[in-house]
Amino acid sequence: MQAKNTVLTFRQAKQENKKLTMLTAYDYSTAKLIDESGINSILVGDSLGNVMLGYSSTISVTMDDMIHHGKAVTRAVKNALVVVDMPFMSYQTSVYDSVVNAGRLIKETNANAVKLESAFFEEIAAITKASIPVVAHLGLTPQSVNSLGGYKVQGITEESAKKIASDAQAVQDAGAFAVVLECVPAKLAKYITQQLKIPTIGIGAGRYCDGQVLVYHDMLGMVSDFKPKFVKQYANLGETMKSAFSNFSEEVQNGTFPTKENEYNISDEIIEKLY
Ligand code: KIV
Repeated sequence: MQAKNTVLTFRQAKQENKKLTMLTAYDYSTAKLIDESGINSILVGDSLGNVMLGYSSTISVTMDDMIHHGKAVTRAVKNALVVVDMPFMSYQTSVYDSVVNAGRLIKETNANAVKLESAFFEEIAAITKASIPVVAHLGLTPQSVNSLGGYKVQGITEESAKKIASDAQAVQDAGAFAVVLECVPAKLAKYITQQLKIPTIGIGAGRYCDGQVLVYHDMLGMVSDFKPKFVKQYANLGETMKSAFSNFSEEVQNGTFPTKENEYNISDEIIEKLY
């Protein structure tokens, strides 16, 4: 039997140089499948704004959205460590707000940890002090898309590479138990991974990170309009689903579904009494 993944699993993996795996999930059925496949951690990402709700960014995602989807995920999960994203403006406004909102996410969803983006060291320290484990998120931080000027690789100049490396050290010092590095050069992620005692989880940050995270819609080929080079597509479920949907439509139209095998029976005597 598999053991429940905890912050200790993450700490031990770093010490033993064992790779960690994380995938996003936003609903019960998918979370159950991911959990049963032995993935270490499930992230209820605010990317749900893009892939579940059809927004063009994560900016509009609310606390209620995160709680709704977080609850669905934790109902399914037995072994993975569940991390819920803190949505835009749930921690940027004050240290107090960050603790209250992190507390709501944990109490109302039953998740194990929260994740927040960018260099909010005081907020990370306060949330950690409240016994809520925190995953930090540096590099391309999608909630800052407007100030970053788009979804671009980060840390390619000397100044920005130094800033991401020193922020990584500072989020560790503030108490984060892991840090997601998104869309940064592989050698910068390697340097940070070597410097830190906590695991780095990469997405578009190359092979030297302590672990990897992907949005499940991307790795299953469920989105046709978004194919960044850091994603490996492990299946083409988008095409499989479309073909199943059109087969269903065709079979209903031409009468091949449903058949007798799909029907429930009633005695002729009862039916005759209806006429
Ligand atoms: O919201 C999300 O899915 C994320 C991942 C991209 C790490 O933050």
